[in-house]
Parts: sequence; structure tokens; C-alpha cells
Amino acid sequence: MANFSDFNIGVYLNGLFGTMPSFPLEYAGWEAAARTHLDDVLYDYVAGGAGDEATQDGNVHAFRRWGIAPRMLAGAAERDLSIELFGRRYPTPLFLAPIGVVGIMDVADGEAGHGDQEAARAAAATGVPAVMSTLMQDPMEDVAPELGETPGFFQLYTPNDRELAESFVRRAEAAGYAGIVVTLDTWSLGWRPRDLRHASMPQLQGKCLANYTSDPVFRSRLEKTPEEDPGAATLAWAMTFGNPGLSWDDLEWLRSLTELPLLLKGICHPDDVRRAKDGGVDGIYCSNHGGRQAASAPALDFLPDVVAAADGMPVLFDSGVRTGVDVVKALALGATAVGIGRPYGWGIAMGGAAGAQHVLQCLLAEADLTMGLNGYASIAELTRDILVRIP
Ligand SMILES: Cc1cc2nc3c(=O)[nH]c(=O)nc-3n(C[C@H](O)[C@H](O)[C@H](O)COP(=O)(O)O)c2cc1C
Repeated sequence: MANFSDFNIGVYLNGLFGTMPSFPLEYAGWEAAARTHLDDVLYDYVAGGAGDEATQDGNVHAFRRWGIAPRMLAGAAERDLSIELFGRRYPTPLFLAPIGVVGIMDVADGEAGHGDQEAARAAAATGVPAVMSTLMQDPMEDVAPELGETPGFFQLYTPNDRELAESFVRRAEAAGYAGIVVTLDTWSLGWRPRDLRHASMPQLQGKCLANYTSDPVFRSRLEKTPEEDPGAATLAWAMTFGNPGLSWDDLEWLRSLTELPLLLKGICHPDDVRRAKDGGVDGIYCSNHGGRQAASAPALDFLPDVVAAADGMPVLFDSGVRTGVDVVKALALGATAVGIGRPYGWGIAMGGAAGAQHVLQCLLAEADLTMGLNGYASIAELTRDILVRIP
């Protein structure tokens, strides 16, 4: 059986024949490579976050407060990193977190605009499922086929127009998405000084709104078509995007929209987990949006209590994962699957689908080696007991 860490050996073997790695091999390199391609406004939009950015920095540092206990002679020469999620077996414990501007981040080849499809192709190539944002540059129907055999999930920003929300869900079902992820932490935009400094954000420039402008319900709300009056369509988007009135009372309606697995993203408190579970959701997605929305404690610090409250229900996790070691720690703290955010975004920027695939391969190789060299052969062996708290 092949291990993901064979990627490591492949790099050295290629070196013997004079072929050097096409892309950097660690987070700082991916971000630096992406930065050479992106304009400042888009780079800051992706790299930045809420307030003084202590939350996003804290997400990353939280992983360093945990160490892994090494076990020797443990027979971990072959590893199994596969997981089970909603009745399906996945070859890896990773997934692509939704990034609402990935559709315009595929800048390396000079022809930006199909980054959602590039991300989907990276998912298809690796078997890593992708959660695709409501905010796509191509309509969801054009992105879904690029996922190939790998399932994609549709992330719903619930608009303040119920018929539009229902239309999105119907379209996602028809396009073959395997689940609906409702993001709860973005009913209003966070305080983001970097974007405020530029006085700019991509969606207000009419970007990444294809799921809206292609939607019959959204179009029916406009006096002129988005093609005739793009400015009015963007304004209509701005008026419908925020949904401050959404409450737990709406969960019954959200649940009624689909029989696909329904997940709630942005849940960090165990009481909210229990409420979600009582409301019939299928999975919890523990995340603080990569520190882009509310300032909060590191998402990782919430994970164990969220997992305990979920009581067997799958818990997806993201926020601050930068290395394969982080992946192992999140799994040991109880995550069912671990979401990759900015790292694959930088991958798309530095090399489209190939760049994102490379990022995933690096993370998987490092996670696999971390497990193997520490003596853990399967994800079932990654439990809280294998971690040591570093003061
Ligand atoms: C540029 C950018 C755009 C994002 N867009 C969305 C989005 O459309 N929907 C959503 O639920 N989360 C969105 N997120 C949050 C991610 O899904 C994820 O929670 C976060 O990136 C994880 O943190 P990390 O980037 O530190 O790994 C976005 C994140 C970034 C960086």
C-alpha cells in the first residue's frame, strides 16, 4: 500500500535527475509565491482578518501549544489516513474549506476567473472533498463536473430572501453536491482593517457573484438583467447577502430544505452544538472563519468540547491549519475531518489546480510521516491521550 509520504521520496528522487520541486514546500513559501501573483487588494483580502488579526494568529499558534507523544517500534510502517463521513469512505481526512474569492485567485496563468473550477480539479485529483462557497465566480453547475468522482459540498450563505435560499439549495442538489454547509458566522461582514484601508472588497466590485446572477429567483428580483445593469445586480446582492435576522427558529426551515447532509459552520460553543443536534443537523463545522469575522479564542481551543457535545455526530474543523502536523493534532482533538483554508487558496494563486494539489500533497505527506514516525498507523489511534499540553 502506498503511503502519502512517498511524495517526500519522490521529491528526492526527482532531485537525482535534476528536477527541482515546482512549488515551495511549506506555508510561508506558498503565501510568498501567491503574493508575487496577486494584486495588493486581493492579497490583503485573503491574508487579512478581523481587527488586529490576533485571532487568526492565535489560530495558528494554538497548534503549537500541543505536542505529540512519540511511540517506538509500533508497527506504523504503513498508514491508513482514510475516514468515514456521511456513509462514504474518503482516502484522506482533509477537505477544502469554502473560499469565496478562490474563483478569481487563479492568477498565475494570467487568465483569472475559473479558480472555483481549479479548486474542484484539485479535489478531483486528490480525493479531498471540497466545500464550495456561495460566492463563486462560475455558477455552481459549471463547477460541479470538475469535482469528478470526489464529492463537493455546497456552502450556503443564507440570503435574507427565503425563496433565493431555497433556489440555491435546489440547484446544489440538482448539480450533484453531496451536502449543504450553512455558514452562520457571516450574517454581517467582520471588522477588517486591511480591506477598509483599500476601501474595497471583491464582491462589491461585482466579482464572485455568479451563483446570484445566474439564479432565476435573484434575476426575478431585478428590473434589468445583471448583463444590462451589473451595478444594480451588485447592489441587489449587497441588500440580500446579510441576514441579521437568521435565528435558531429558522433551523427547522433550513432542515426542511434538503435531505442531503446538513452542516452548520461557525459553531464553537457546546450549547450551540446541542441546539443544532436537536434541530436535526447531520454535522457540526467548528470554525472561527480563520479569524476573519468575530475576534475570538482560537477555534482549536473549542474543538474538544464541541466534539464532546456532538456526541458521535461528525465534527469538521478548520482555522489555522498550516502543516500536516496541525492536521494530526486536530484529528487527535476529535475532528472527523480537517479543513484547509488559506493554504490551498495560495496554492490556486501560485499554480491553479496543480498548485492546490501540491499544497494538499505536502500537507498529506507531512501528516502521514508525522503519524508514522510517531508510531500511529491509523486515525483511530489519534486520540487526546497522544497529545501533551505545552505550557
Ligand atoms: C479569502 C477567504 C474567503 C473565505 N470565504 C468563505 C466563504 O465564502 N464561506 C465560508 O463559509 N467561509 C469562508 N472563508 C472561511 C474558510 O472557509 C475557513 O473557515 C478559513 O479560511 C479557515 O482558516 P484558515 O484560512 O486560517 O485555514 C473564507 C476564508 C478566506 C481566507
